[in-house]
This record gives sequence, C-alpha cells and structure tokens, in this order.
Amino acid sequence: MNYIGSKLKLSSWILEVVKAHVGDDLSDKVFCDIFAGTGIVGRTFKKEVRQVIANDLEYYSYVLNKNYIANHKNIQDKHRYIDKLNSLPLIDSGFVYQNYCRGSGSGRLYFSNTNGKKIDTIRTKIKQWKKSGEISPNLYYFLLASLLESADKVANTASVYGAYLKHIKKSALKELVLYGAPFETNDNTHEAHNTDSNELIKQISGDILYLDPPYNHRQYSSNYHILNTIALYDEFIPKGKTGLPEYNRSDYCKKGEVKNSFENLIKHAKFKHIFLSYNNEGLMRASEIKDIMIKYGKYSLQTKEYQRFKADKTTSRNHKATHTNEYLHILTKTR
Ligand SMILES: C[S@@+](CC[C@H](N)C(=O)[O-])C[C@H]1O[C@@H](n2cnc3c(N)ncnc32)[C@H](O)[C@@H]1O
Repeated sequence: MNYIGSKLKLSSWILEVVKAHVGDDLSDKVFCDIFAGTGIVGRTFKKEVRQVIANDLEYYSYVLNKNYIANHKNIQDKHRYIDKLNSLPLIDSGFVYQNYCRGSGSGRLYFSNTNGKKIDTIRTKIKQWKKSGEISPNLYYFLLASLLESADKVANTASVYGAYLKHIKKSALKELVLYGAPFETNDNTHEAHNTDSNELIKQISGDILYLDPPYNHRQYSSNYHILNTIALYDEFIPKGKTGLPEYNRSDYCKKGEVKNSFENLIKHAKFKHIFLSYNNEGLMRASEIKDIMIKYGKYSLQTKEYQRFKADKTTSRNHKATHTNEYLHILTKTR
C-alpha cells in the first residue's frame, strides 16, 4: 500500500541500525512498533525477534497488523475463501457504492461503480461469515486485510483519500480482484493493538521500541478514511464533499501538543532501546528531539537521504523537494 511515511524502502536500513546497536541476534527480544501503519517494520522484525507488538490508532491499520503481525499460523483453506469472494454476484445496496461511487448519485468518485459494488459484496459476505461463525477470527482478519489491500489498488485517488479525482483514472477502471494478503508464519506469538500510543505505552514492556509517528499536521484518519469505512463497515452520515466520518485527531499532528506527547511517551517507555524515525520537515526539529531524548539516557543519531513520498502523477501537486533526510534518533534508556 502506498502510505504516507511508509518505511517499505527503509525497513532493511532500520533493521541494520537496530542490529548495530542491540546486537545481531535478536531472537530473545520483544520489539514494539507502536505507530505501525502498514505494518512493514514489524513484518521485517517478525522474522528476527521473539515477539512483535504492533499498534496503531487507526482501525484499518489494526486490521492489517492483525493479519501481517498477529497471524502466525497457516490458515487452512484461506485461498478457497478468497475464490468464493471473487465469484459472488454483485450487490448495489451497500454503503460504499451508495456513498462513494458516481452511479448511485452520491456525486463522489472514489471507486468505479463495479468496484464499489464489489467492495460491498465482499465486505458484506465477510461480515455474515463472521457473525455466523463460519470463519475464525484469524481468517476474518486475513480476508479483511486482503480486501483493504485490493480495494486500495483500484481507488480513484491521488494516493490518499483526502480527495477523489474528478475523472476516473486508468488503474481505477480495472476490476478489483481480491488477492490474499500474505503473512509470515512462525512459532512465536505476536500482538496487534488499536490504541493511542501514549496509553498503550503504560501497559507494555519489552526490549526495542520503534517509533514512527506522523511528522506533520496531516491526520491519517482523514487521509485514509475510506479504508476505515471499509474496515469498520458501520453506517454513518458521510460529511461534505469527500464523505468523511467523525475522525480521530492525533496529538502528533498538532504543533502545540507534539513535543509534550513525545516526551511523555519516552518517559513512560519500559524499553531499553528506543529508535525514532523522523524526517527533516517534521513538526519537531531534530535538536528538539535530541533535547528531549538525552534527558532519559545515551543519545545518538543516524541519517539517510531518502526519496520522499510522491503523489500520483495524474495530479499536478507540487512538492518542495524530491529528496528528504530520514533520521533515526537512538536512545539507550537509563533513566
Ligand atoms: C508515519 S506513519 C507509520 C508508517 C509505518 N511505519 C509504515 O511503514 O507503514 C504514522 C502512523 O501513526 C499512527 N498514529 C498517529 N497518531 C497515533 C497515536 N497517538 N497512537 C498510535 N498511532 C498513531 C497513524 O495512524 C499512522 O499509521
């Protein structure tokens, strides 16, 4: 999934830096990815550590992490269920088609008419299977994560869901095909949570804490609201041009709150090694982060030049730079 702040291209560098600080063998370590997003960092560490604890404030992210991180045993017949979902007759009474497709008269154009109906058809069947006990919770999250990933591929947006495109783009015209979202199997058990980081931090402990909070004022819940709508599938009255639900507002996206929240997180963390990803265009300056972290132990910094997140080429949005510096702030906590 093309996600703001995704560490897809940086996760092997993060693993390298963590190993350089903590040691090559992480097999007895508990690793927490407390702002997990797509789960890609936790997925990288899942193969290396004893346990991954993944968390995110957004429900769609929780669904992805319940699948990619918490699912660790093979699920029998999972592809048979995918095939069944791909071959259902389409319904046109569902929430996505009715509110986010042009053919229903909603005025919105997040998906083609066929794809909107297909999302509703698949989501409704998954809901029915869950209610009747036909599928296990593990299979439920596998199927739902698969739907989120497959729907995202055919969305008619410039990468995020803050707005839809006026005309339908080529990739959005392709018919949605549900593909299974593959997860790594292993013998260890892993956790996924859907809580505010600053609440969860008081309840957990471990060895390595990875922090990747939002860098700027762009709230993930508004930028990815359609994914929450598909994941939650509760009816609500969509607001305004883009059909927003009521949404979470993270303190990490607020200039006036972010430093205080960040310091509280560090203060309450019961983890020896803390790694924070942040870029040079974020709400907190690198020197401010250092001033906070250094109060709690030994601090160091690693930097990497990185190609920034780009909007879809079908829009004319201009970005200030094509490269950005990605920082990894490192704290060995002693206080
Ligand atoms: C930069 S993204 C993380 C990207 C992730 N590392 C990846 O590679 O996909 C920041 C994430 O923090 C989440 N978030 C924002 N505020 C939060 C909070 N207070 N507690 C937990 N998660 C939060 C957002 O929903 C978003 O998924």
